[in-house]
Amino acid sequence: MKTLMLLFGWTFAAFALLQFIQIDIPTPPTPKAGDRISAPAPVMAAIKKGCYDCHSNRNNIPWYGNIAPISFEVRQHVKDGRKWLNFDLFNRYTEEKKQKIYQGTVKTVTSGAMPIPLYLWKHTEARLNPAERKAIIGWAKGKIGE
Ligand code: HEC
Repeated sequence: MKTLMLLFGWTFAAFALLQFIQIDIPTPPTPKAGDRISAPAPVMAAIKKGCYDCHSNRNNIPWYGNIAPISFEVRQHVKDGRKWLNFDLFNRYTEEKKQKIYQGTVKTVTSGAMPIPLYLWKHTEARLNPAERKAIIGWAKGKIGE
């Protein structure tokens, strides 16, 4: 019994200490007029639904996303996602970078790699239906080589 109590105590202490480790998400620049992506309404709606939590300035981290060790995964996703692609700053990118984004979007949305499946497990509201996927893929395809 004593061993069990000790084990419990140490586990709790370790968990508490873990809370002091936090992944910093840099504050993204404030978009200026014309920085934000513009696309046809159905495409915008689908992107906002499925991609904005990690690829825009929108901050939508749920409470459990700030509790270590879950926070490591969640905050890293937002940090890396924004670094790679921020739709709120889209028009600041070079045409070359935009082309990479269009190609990457076709590839990842088709394969189901984006939105990240682990995220969708909890964020059911961000799950895209086939029409929404089709809207995003069709739009990105149309932009390739433009
Ligand atoms: C839960 C967070 C999250 C969501 C939601 C999300 N992404 Fe990502 N995305 C990332 C992260 C993190 C990366 C960085 C590379 C990696 O870890 O795979 C990334 C990378 C990418 C890349 C570059 C990777 C490549 O192979 O070209 C594209 C393009 C992309 N995302 C598009 C999208 C689109 C489009 C959506 C919505 C349909 C979306 N993402 C939704 C987190 C996310």
